[in-house]
Amino acid sequence: MKFRFLFFGIFAISTLLLTPLSSVIAANKYSVDNPPKVPYKYVLGMEKFRDLCSRCHGKWGNGTHQGPPLMHGFYKPSHHGDPAFYQAALNGVRAHHWRFGDMPPVPGATRKDIDVILPFIRWLQRENGIY
Ligand code: HEC
Repeated sequence: MKFRFLFFGIFAISTLLLTPLSSVIAANKYSVDNPPKVPYKYVLGMEKFRDLCSRCHGKWGNGTHQGPPLMHGFYKPSHHGDPAFYQAALNGVRAHHWRFGDMPPVPGATRKDIDVILPFIRWLQRENGIY
């Protein structure tokens, strides 16, 4: 009898611990080994994202040890609308959702860069089923 409770306990705890982790991982359909086929109209955005954002957010928005995944429910349009992306890139963000620290303003990023990066990120979010 006691063992059953023990097993159930271990199962319950591991499910609790793994669920948030797997929801982050499961959201990301693409990786360096499995890149998406980027439609031509998003290629410039992809290149600029790679130059300015991927260092922290990962090549396909999957996150790195320096920044969170943008392929995450937090960053869908209803949670972080387009202005949040301009704000983040141009003025930086104080750490609030994660423990990566603050996002500094991105050196060299302009509104025009975000004008093309944002449609690429939104496209990739849709591809990943984020919204
Ligand atoms: C030096 C690392 C770094 C770079 C480069 C970087 N970011 Fe971030 N970004 C972060 C971190 C860290 C956070 C998480 C802040 C938090 O805890 O919520 C973040 C958060 C964000 C957010 C969420 C803002 C909010 O209001 O919560 C957006 C949007 C974002 N980044 C977009 C971008 C874009 C677009 C680029 C490229 C132009 C970029 N980031 C480049 C580190 C970076």
